[in-house]
Amino acid sequence: MTHAAPPRPALARRSQGLKGIARVPGDKSISHRSFMFGGLASGETRITGLLEGEDVMRTGEAMKAMGAQIRKAGDEWIIQGVGNGCLLQPEGPLDFGNAGTGSRLTMGLVGVYDMETTFIGDASLSGRPMGRVLDPLRQMGVQILKAAPGDRMPITLRGPKHAAPITYRVPMASAQVKSAVLLAGLNTPGITTVIEPVMTRDHTEKMLQGFGANLTVDTDDAGVRHIFIEGQGKLTGQTIAVPGDPSSAGFPLVAALIVPGSDIVIENVLMNPTRTGLLLTLQEMGGNIEILNPRNAGGEDVADLRVRSSELKGVAVPASRAPSMIDEYPVLAAAAAFAEGETLMQGLEELRVKESDRLAAVARGLEANGVDCTEGEATLAVRGRPGGKGLGGGTVATHLDHRIAMSFLILGLATEKPVTVDDANMIATSFPEFMGLMKELGAEIE
Ligand code: S3P
Repeated sequence: MTHAAPPRPALARRSQGLKGIARVPGDKSISHRSFMFGGLASGETRITGLLEGEDVMRTGEAMKAMGAQIRKAGDEWIIQGVGNGCLLQPEGPLDFGNAGTGSRLTMGLVGVYDMETTFIGDASLSGRPMGRVLDPLRQMGVQILKAAPGDRMPITLRGPKHAAPITYRVPMASAQVKSAVLLAGLNTPGITTVIEPVMTRDHTEKMLQGFGANLTVDTDDAGVRHIFIEGQGKLTGQTIAVPGDPSSAGFPLVAALIVPGSDIVIENVLMNPTRTGLLLTLQEMGGNIEILNPRNAGGEDVADLRVRSSELKGVAVPASRAPSMIDEYPVLAAAAAFAEGETLMQGLEELRVKESDRLAAVARGLEANGVDCTEGEATLAVRGRPGGKGLGGGTVATHLDHRIAMSFLILGLATEKPVTVDDANMIATSFPEFMGLMKELGAEIE
């Protein structure tokens, strides 16, 4: 089992205007997939801009354990892949640490292989539901040899001699479940079909097409996507430049909006429309965010963001926007704490099964810092206090959740009293440079 480091508390205090140019690390979703698809494809894949966070490194280790060669030369990661269908049985369990994406996608990728694989993780990951991935895999012929109650890790899978292609309608808005089924389809004869009623991030589809998979998408009149993948085709190594992670960019972005006198630029941020919900919401709240130099890089839209401090107003965020900002609600809540009036966030049911129950963790953290909020079953209403007078002074329980830790450190940059988080260790899973980058901009964080 993963060794847990002792908790390392951190504190943020009211700061002077943030200034400067920042570059956030590479997108986490694209980084995981780069290691996976590069490790699977024939020939060489070269990656720049990869997020070197703990979650992604676990995916790299898993791919190495199954036969891929992965090394770093200068700024570049170079992978020699095994070829589609040729992954090897790992000698020991695959330890995914805190990473839901790495573990769920890999379960799809290798679950259908005629071999045994065991998946383990930290206390947070071991508490998360895996049935959402195991259910379609069972339909494809995968045996679940071992699982903790409620389809939780540790989990041991064994694939059939030949997996059965299925048509699977994804029952919740989840790119991880969609991706797991598509990746299982890669090693399954025939056509595997995924029906996606609500569009989620489409990195798996775009990147697999880039690697040469025969994958097509039809969107019907109701907006429902039908994704078809032909199994057992050839994948060929690619050159990938990973753009900056819009979820990580959300932290300096909100910080600059709420700290008076701020004016920053965040460079090279991924602008894929399935990921820009936070930007849209903050603009609706009156955030002064300019989108500079919009361009296309390696098949993805990217831009630089100039952000200046702003007087924010509360808005109602529609449930339909949740998939495009699912990881950004904690930091949106930090922005909402300083907005005039109420910000109502709806359609948050998936927040309950993230690295923590994020809906509860955010509500408790806000309450601990004097922010008026109401937690519903799948909603959060935050009533802000412009200027942050009287706010802060609390300690937030982060529950092994990197985004809870970062969001509340951002909150503390504009509250009257400092905000403490009980553990900043997990920040390294997705944004190892967070503390240094924020301090460079002028944030008082320690
Ligand atoms: C991800 C999908 C989302 C997101 C996660 C990354 C991905 O999870 O929260 O951080 O890379 O596919 P769900 O599929 O559970 O919504």
